[in-house]
This record gives sequence, C-alpha cells and structure tokens, in this order.
Amino acid sequence: MFIDTHCHLEDDKFTEDRAEVLTRARAAQVERIINFGSTLTSSVAVVELAKKFPELYAGVGIHPEEIDDFDAKTCATLAELVTDKVIAVGEIGLDYHWEKDSERRLIQQKIFIEQLDLARQLKLPVCVHDRDAHGDTLKILQTEARDLRGVLHCYSGSLETAKEVWKLGWLIGVDGPLTFKNSAKLPEVVKATSRDMLLIETDAPYLAPTPYRGKRNEPTYVVEVAKKLAELRGETLEEVAAYTTANAKALYAI
Ligand code: NI
Repeated sequence: MFIDTHCHLEDDKFTEDRAEVLTRARAAQVERIINFGSTLTSSVAVVELAKKFPELYAGVGIHPEEIDDFDAKTCATLAELVTDKVIAVGEIGLDYHWEKDSERRLIQQKIFIEQLDLARQLKLPVCVHDRDAHGDTLKILQTEARDLRGVLHCYSGSLETAKEVWKLGWLIGVDGPLTFKNSAKLPEVVKATSRDMLLIETDAPYLAPTPYRGKRNEPTYVVEVAKKLAELRGETLEEVAAYTTANAKALYAI
C-alpha cells in the first residue's frame, strides 16, 4: 500500500468528482491520504473531509502565503479543530519565492514559530513548507523545533541542507518534481537519503508528476513518485511502498 502524505483534496478542483478521485486512489492501493489546510477555512474543510472519509486524515495550519489570515486567536481556533483524525500541524513555514518584502518575511517567521509552539502544545508532528527559504527554515528548526518531529514537504533544498534536517530527526517529502526532466538536485538528494527519512506525497491538485505534468494532480499519482524513487535508488516498487508507508505511519501515528 501507499500513503499520500501531503494533499489538498478540499480544493475546489475536486468539488465535482472527489468521491471518484478517492475510488481511483483505493484501486491504486493509495490507502491513506493526509490533507493539509493552508488557511483557517481550508483547515476546517480538511477536518470535515477526514470525518467523512475513513482513509482521510488532516493537518491544520496557516500557510506562509496566507499570513493575513493569522491573528492572536488563530492558534486557539486551530487547536479547537483537533480530533483523532487531525494528526499534524501544517502546512506552515516560509515562502520567500512569492514574498519579497523583508518585513512580511519576518511576519512569516513569527507565525511559523507560533505554530511550532502550537504543535508542541498539541503534541503533534509538523509539516513544513519551505520555498526559497532554506537557510531561515533550517535556522528556525534548529532553534525552535529541536523537541519536535516533522517533515520538510516537497523538498527542494540541497543535500547539505537535507543532512542538517536529518540530524534533527526530520524527514523529507518528495513529490512530482522528482519526475521532471529539470528536477535539478533532487535526484542526488534522494539517492543519498536513508530509507527511514523519506516520505512520498502528491501536493495535489498541484505538481502532477510525469506523465501527467500540467494536469490536475490526484493521490493516485503518488505511485509515479514511488516508481521514480525505486528507479533512482535501485529498489523495487514494493520496497519503496513498504518503507515510505512505515515512515508515514511512524511519523503521523496513523
Ligand atoms: Ni501543499
């Protein structure tokens, strides 16, 4: 079986056919799917979906591109959403690709740290978004999250950064970009990753892997990421399925 450890099935792009998407995932042996909120509204939505479908789990949090959605009460509101199907805080982190303003980047850092505190209070692991902010993300993990566990989702950093992440006991999550021709450093990073530090994910509806690139992504396609990992690492698909599933179960206690 496979677990898609990072997805956004609450997205409008699934309104028409969400049940069929889940049927296809089941047929492809993608047996568990974790949806992550980006705003308060989407956090509520992923929790509702997790109540409705047994194979769905949820993470709640405010994404760094959505900091205007965050105020003094937000962490308390997120905490109130927690049920036994809410298994993480995320996705939270830093995005310097879309945010160029230095003041607002500081606000992202502050909100990231506050939500790491929330994870600590709730005793939950963390799913981190880091886009073009590898240095500051690592610094915050090293100073503010030593007692927490989590994953750098959709990993796009260097092998050097990954080694520091692993030292903290954090994992890296790999998505569709691994299958792209211009996947840059990622193949070298995954070849050097030990089995216990890897998760597979889709980030659907975004980032569909080859041969679906450019289309709407969905959990079924996590198998394409697993196939690419198997090819690059000289493993069988069954091996990749087994250890990535074991890692997801261990991190998220599902
Ligand atoms: Ni995401």
